[in-house]
Amino acid sequence: MYIPKHLEWNETLSTGDETLDNQHKYLVDTLNKLGDAINEGHGNENIARILGTLRFYSSWHFGKEEDCMETHHCPAAEKNKKAHAVFIEKFDKFHAEFTNSGGTNGLALKIHEEISGWIVNHILFVDGELYPCIHHRPKPTRPN
Ligand SMILES: [Fe+2]
Repeated sequence: MYIPKHLEWNETLSTGDETLDNQHKYLVDTLNKLGDAINEGHGNENIARILGTLRFYSSWHFGKEEDCMETHHCPAAEKNKKAHAVFIEKFDKFHAEFTNSGGTNGLALKIHEEISGWIVNHILFVDGELYPCIHHRPKPTRPN
């Protein structure tokens, strides 16, 4: 069975932009709050509230990140925009399913697994393409 693990931000997740990195740290913190709420049985109302925060914050952050990629003429800009749209669609389906079903622990776990996997992977391999556009050198491949 999937058990939400504590996620930690490190330099390999850096986009090279401090503001975006801080927004990613907030997303990671919120995923950890969701994991704690599930692991510690805080209840559906609390889980739904955290899902609402994640939805609101991620779409606001995506806009900021898309602007930053455009400013720096990042070659990943289009791919990033499309990936964000796919994420929002996927997230909304999960969110609606959780709300309409009254929320089960199994569904909350599945949402955490999918969403946290997507976000970490996306920050690493798509958002990370911004780093060389800002600093003209490769992104760190190992945490300090
Ligand atoms: Fe992104």
